[in-house]
Amino acid sequence: MAHETDPVGDLTEAQAREELARLADLLDAANIAYHRDDAPKISDAEYDRLKRRNAEIEARFPALKRADSPSDTVGAAPAEGFAKVRHEIRMLSLSNVFEEEELVSFDQSVRRYLGLGADDPLAYTAEPKIDGLSLSLRYEKGALVQAATRGDGAVGENVTANARMIDDVPQRLNGAPEVIEVRGEVYMSHADFADLNARQTARGGKSFANPRNAAAGSLRQLDPEITRARPLRFFAYSWGALSEPLAETQSGAIKRLEALGFQTNPLTALCNGPDEMLAHYRRIEEQRATLGYDIDGVVYKVDDLEYQRRLGFRSTTPRWATAHKFPAELAWTRLEAIDIQVGRTGALSPVARLSPVTVGGVVVSNATLHNEDYIAGRDATGAPIRGGKDIRVGDWVQVYRAGDVIPKVADVDLDKRLEGAEPFDFPKTCPECGSDAIREAGDAVRRCSGGLVCPAQAVEKLKHFVSRAAFDIEGLGAKQVEQFYSDGWIKEPADIFTLAQRYGAGMQQLKNREGWGEKSAQKLFDAIDERRVIALERVIFSLGIRHVGEGVARLLARAYGSWDAFVAAVDAARDQGGEAWDGLIGIDGIGTVVATSLVSSFAQEAERASIDRLVRHLDIQEAERPRTEGSPVAGKTIVFTGTLERMTRAEAKAWAERLGAKVSGSVSARTDLLVAGPGAGSKESKARDLGVEILDEDGWFDLIEGA
Ligand code: IVH
Repeated sequence: MAHETDPVGDLTEAQAREELARLADLLDAANIAYHRDDAPKISDAEYDRLKRRNAEIEARFPALKRADSPSDTVGAAPAEGFAKVRHEIRMLSLSNVFEEEELVSFDQSVRRYLGLGADDPLAYTAEPKIDGLSLSLRYEKGALVQAATRGDGAVGENVTANARMIDDVPQRLNGAPEVIEVRGEVYMSHADFADLNARQTARGGKSFANPRNAAAGSLRQLDPEITRARPLRFFAYSWGALSEPLAETQSGAIKRLEALGFQTNPLTALCNGPDEMLAHYRRIEEQRATLGYDIDGVVYKVDDLEYQRRLGFRSTTPRWATAHKFPAELAWTRLEAIDIQVGRTGALSPVARLSPVTVGGVVVSNATLHNEDYIAGRDATGAPIRGGKDIRVGDWVQVYRAGDVIPKVADVDLDKRLEGAEPFDFPKTCPECGSDAIREAGDAVRRCSGGLVCPAQAVEKLKHFVSRAAFDIEGLGAKQVEQFYSDGWIKEPADIFTLAQRYGAGMQQLKNREGWGEKSAQKLFDAIDERRVIALERVIFSLGIRHVGEGVARLLARAYGSWDAFVAAVDAARDQGGEAWDGLIGIDGIGTVVATSLVSSFAQEAERASIDRLVRHLDIQEAERPRTEGSPVAGKTIVFTGTLERMTRAEAKAWAERLGAKVSGSVSARTDLLVAGPGAGSKESKARDLGVEILDEDGWFDLIEGA
């Protein structure tokens, strides 16, 4: 074997090949440590030496130059990323309450849903909301087999190797159900965070803004050894798939998790009603500063798991839990400038450029100013906010942030207003393309009317198109999209799918560009090809239509199943109105705002042509329809009337919809089934006249039993 100090001239061909392989590995590892992980493992001088030796050997043996030669790479390859994991049970987020009254109405709505009176007993657990990132740990036959991040809730990242490095994560469980997914929060303590940042700074690496970022950055490491060196902790507070129930109550289940060897939060309490919940909230708030880790509120959960099951979920949050957030953190600073950003839908958003200031441990230099009314000191109805004080460049302003949200400018100190400060003149034309910026009646936002002609809108639409919940094309992020757009290589989504054809021939053009090599270019083209086959909900979301977020896109995809059916329905709603329109807004979760936005987007010629060009490149997968299989009521229109005794109206509706039925409030010729409790009146007689099938509540339960 050759020694690395051997003169290159003395190497045999076999030795040279072997050493090139070794150098490629070493340099690759060094690149990853330095560029991706901010944790260099060798000195710069050592790095340069290895690179020089590699180049010398390549010069002497050109035929041996590797396809992945370190001479041709700049920085680290884009993170390969983690394998994806589809959660058997979705990982959800939580709704929020901020005020006492909101907590009271949370309790009321839970009671209403369950049909409980104000005096019926109803217990909740209350526990700190840990400011970290959630992790799902799957154990089979007692062994940890998989750990996954939340990701988008449906699909997360496989971080099993990293999770094994966390002391609080048991590798084995004794006496656990055969299959159990334990969910909880990964976090970093204040002390460990300070140590880590000190170490990072000492070695010239990047420091983290807060413990949450540090925890996320440490868990999402491709090299588990780095995770090992970063002290992460884990609190268990929930679960996913289970082969058998853990307990009958939330508090019982938490005790069970504790007995299985998990850390659970010691500040978890059982509370009867809002007064006790609030008292516990105050207790936790008092201890917040001395806990030694970040929390950002208190989570309340209905204790009875049977109630939890009945309450179920909205599209992304459970009805049986909510997070009571702590009030936001504040600071005062100077407003240096107001910039206008143009978004994907043309919205002109004013951004405050601030003298940097620390708010709750994070340095803030930008904040949102919402819209022109907000700057002028009035709300959407014209009523004064902040006592009618407007905000001017140069003002002394109060900045606040709550959790992860974008910081906001909340208030202004008029005593500190500079002499000669002028009211802010909100632009009436788009700063990016010069088109008129129009504010429609009832809209708080002024919008650029340039459509796809506006470069800002076009770029933002493209960025949205490639974003994670949309096409999620590896190697094509916001930065690359900007680059390609400004060079005129990609002007609209369809262009992405012809990129290889236009610039990839022999890979010459793309490969010769800064930042692109043969390998990365090929990788990009492969990643693009991979996305030609794509889920319907992603396509709908990717279009960037106003009000059509991920949740709405999913509802539409489920309702229509295929792209053609979806487009036909939107077109029909526009051309025929009436029943076609009702069909669109009849989808649970879709209202007139969404429907109007959809219909008008599809009716805009340029936009429609761009969508049509895109879909020609795609093989759009049909969506999973609601549980129609084995459901006796799939596709049927059902009306509930009279007093229901075994379930509340809301519960009945949610249940029927889960089984693929449509629930309507009134009986018509289109009604398939009426479920009538005692006291049913005119609806029942109308149904009888129309010959609609009528069931009582027990009949309804018999019908859907087992479905
Ligand atoms: S329960 C189905 N409990 O907050 C409900 N979440 O805003 C599952 N979080 O994604 C969540 N502490 O990452 C729950 N004690 C706690 C929590 C907690 C922090 C996080 C969690 C969740 C997010 C929702």
